[in-house]
Amino acid sequence: MGRKVILTGDRPTGPLHIGHYFGSVKQRVKMQYEYDTYIIIADIQALTDNFQNPAKVRRNVRKLAIDYLSSGIDPKQSHIFIQSMIPEIAELTVLYSNMVTVARLYRNPTTKAEVSHKKNLFGDSGESITYGFLGYPVSQAADLTAFDCEVCPVGEDQVPHLEQAREIVRKFNHIYGDTLKEPKAVLSSHARIKGLDGNEKMGKSLGNAIFLSDDTETVTKKVMAALTDTSKIRKDDPADPDKCMVYYYHKLLENKNIETVCEECKQGKRGCVACKRELIAVMEEFLKPFREKRKYYEENPEIVDEILKAGTLAARRKAKEVMKRVRKSVQIDYFGGKSI
Ligand code: TRP
Repeated sequence: MGRKVILTGDRPTGPLHIGHYFGSVKQRVKMQYEYDTYIIIADIQALTDNFQNPAKVRRNVRKLAIDYLSSGIDPKQSHIFIQSMIPEIAELTVLYSNMVTVARLYRNPTTKAEVSHKKNLFGDSGESITYGFLGYPVSQAADLTAFDCEVCPVGEDQVPHLEQAREIVRKFNHIYGDTLKEPKAVLSSHARIKGLDGNEKMGKSLGNAIFLSDDTETVTKKVMAALTDTSKIRKDDPADPDKCMVYYYHKLLENKNIETVCEECKQGKRGCVACKRELIAVMEEFLKPFREKRKYYEENPEIVDEILKAGTLAARRKAKEVMKRVRKSVQIDYFGGKSI
């Protein structure tokens, strides 16, 4: 009671990778003990790009919940809930859509990048852009404000959406009186994790990610193929650890041996294969607690469903309360504000 609200989450479109973990999930796990925490499984937002493939979205809802639970999201601390089961979010989206111009939506840097990606993908000049896609940041503003969220731990790419949500809130409060809370983004220290191939971003569609659900064999294969300093030919050639993804991950996963790894690499005393083997061991150790929890939840899907139900119920209760306030402010609280 009286604690500030955190709201954050993901689209259920595929498995979470360690980029997601270091980019935001790790921080949620820590913060859940200090804040009233809501974690949204954004199935409606996932449908903006996948409306022709509802089975994929549905399948990934429980999988995402399991990814969260195996990462240490504690269902006693956090409400994990399903977006589509909160109709108040859809109602708020409609109200907010009056408060943002189409030009502003096009200026959102994340949307902009996605628009140009779509143009390339479909080879058109923007005809493939739907109303729903362009407007998803508005719906995200509804996600945040429906729960009085004040703090939103997310990765860097979400910052423009938070900025847009804050503008909507300010405009709303200015017109209708103080009603909504302004959500603020908090970035984690590793805001963006590089891929195994050296790409600036680890992405599930980029083929350069380690998933939290990867087994030993997959981890081994992926690490063995990771990018190293390309100027190093023989195993005793000196190399530059800063040009090597294997070193990058040794650092990320806090290998206690990190100084030796660095020195031996620079002095040509460490072959890449041995270095990769060591990273696999570190990675396996890192993934161990995830795997243990995953096993439990995969063997008990009914427990996962119970957690989702309870989380969604708590979220609904909160959203109803906020919606009541909003209806009053916008003067659409007819017949005493009771639903008929
Ligand atoms: N846009 C986020 C993503 O693609 C998912 C999301 C939906 C979200 N609603 C949110 C994140 C509210 C934080 C807060 O990953």
